[in-house]
Amino acid sequence: MTASQINITEFIKSSERSVSTARESSVAHLGALERVRTKAVVAKGVEMTFQSGVESSLVLQGVDLEIPYGEIQLLMGPSGSGKTTFLSILAGILTPTAGTVHLLGQEITQMSKDELSKFRLKNIGFIFQGFNLFPALTAAENVEVALRMKGIKGSAAKREAQDLLYQVGLSNRVNYLPRDLSGGQKQRVAIARALAGNPRLIMADEPTASLDSHSGHTVIELLRDLAKESNRTVLIVTHDPRLIDVADRVTYLEDGILKN
Ligand SMILES: Nc1ncnc2c1ncn2[C@@H]1O[C@H](COP(=O)(O)OP(=O)(O)OP(=O)(O)O)[C@@H](O)[C@H]1O
Ligand SMILES: [Mg+2]
Repeated sequence: MTASQINITEFIKSSERSVSTARESSVAHLGALERVRTKAVVAKGVEMTFQSGVESSLVLQGVDLEIPYGEIQLLMGPSGSGKTTFLSILAGILTPTAGTVHLLGQEITQMSKDELSKFRLKNIGFIFQGFNLFPALTAAENVEVALRMKGIKGSAAKREAQDLLYQVGLSNRVNYLPRDLSGGQKQRVAIARALAGNPRLIMADEPTASLDSHSGHTVIELLRDLAKESNRTVLIVTHDPRLIDVADRVTYLEDGILKN
């Protein structure tokens, strides 16, 4: 074989290699697109570094998570492992230092501030640790505030707030102030508020913390019904082992790394 023939053979081999690499990468790309299309939540390579003064701490070290539509996903792990940080990133409240997050097929990590707040308002109901209710407003008014933010106003907001409080079993407490409600009832108001505008994603940070066993159970059943009856996707950060039974999947975060 002459030198030029060897070169041609090498050229053909290397072309074949690059065609097959291109094919593989386009198959991988299609796979990624398919996952984004069929999953409610797709987080890929999420990293978070907090900078305080000269010190920086890497709290999330490349976390991947996928949640199919209509499922309840639990995120557990020791205190300080990065659960709230990760949940805040998935809810678009914090921007990760690296990685991507797709929610309902859209990449939120690419959105402008404006687009993101519109997306969040329409699609995510967030239940904060410690209820976060306005102390001077009644249960119904607390829910109405959320409805108003979502563009539902006047008598429609009043009717909708009553209906949401009915759904969480609080028809007889609509005019109560938070201070006159039990912890479990306050949490149910917070859930009713998260349901305002019928978002497809519910994210909750420690929804049963500080609730007694009965109230905790009511809240757990409510979260399960939300997911199963209305095909919502629910992501819950919790230490509460009672929630494991209602979850479709459980993942553990330890030192910023997910362990299944
Ligand atoms: N804004 C911030 N600036 C600097 N460090 C932060 C910030 N927010 C969180 N951290 C640090 O990130 C780590 C993870 O915090 P995070 O609140 O996500 O933990 P967690 O798993 O939710 O813990 P817990 O179960 O106690 O709620 C902690 O070490 C915390 O000190
Ligand atoms: Mg936390």
